[in-house]
Amino acid sequence: LKEPAVVGSVLGADYARLGAEVADLTGAGVGRIQWDVMDRLFVPNMTFGPDVVGACREHSDVPFEAHLMVRDPDPMLADFVAAGCETIIVHAETCPHLLRTLSAIRELGARAGVALNPSTPAEFLRHVLSGLDQVVVMTVNPGFGGQKYIPAMEEKVSEVRALVERAGVPVQIEVDGGISTRTARAAWYAGAELLVAGRAVLSHPDGKRAAVAELHRVLT
Ligand code: DX5
Repeated sequence: LKEPAVVGSVLGADYARLGAEVADLTGAGVGRIQWDVMDRLFVPNMTFGPDVVGACREHSDVPFEAHLMVRDPDPMLADFVAAGCETIIVHAETCPHLLRTLSAIRELGARAGVALNPSTPAEFLRHVLSGLDQVVVMTVNPGFGGQKYIPAMEEKVSEVRALVERAGVPVQIEVDGGISTRTARAAWYAGAELLVAGRAVLSHPDGKRAAVAELHRVLT
């Protein structure tokens, strides 16, 4: 089992106080902040661009990762790196020249990640593993926070873990969507080491710090 880390998603944060929300998430103990970038084309929702991410950079000292749920990520890679994102995650479903896109991310000095929608098989990664730093297995259909975790994705997490181990590459595996104290352990046992949590942290009645602490407790 890999050392797990909770990644805080700002999807659904109080956008009127976003800098403070990012600082609170950081203080609550998340290992990274994930920015769910949506263009209303690839997913039926629209969120923020690089300027918003950049404005929040000074409010946190943990790495930022941009999760580009957009139809055409290539033209925006540099902007999110310039905004302060250490990792750029593109969707396999939006990159016909995926290996080239991953190389472009690395040439910008960032870590390259690929996200797979629930219907996309792990096999999609087979020929790009050497170009990857992170794989995100979506455990919901992308577009919104607060959705129900899809347990069937645990099998895909294990398949990705097997692919990565067989290739002998240092690729981190992340799960994203519906992660809570009820689902985190199974996802971790399946092979995920980064667990993105939005609603479970942002809407916890006892606050973000208690929510992150609860998630850490189930991940031991
Ligand atoms: C889906 C988003 C969400 C978000 C976290 O497109 O990627 O998964 O990060 O959402 P919840 O609220 O499910 O943790």
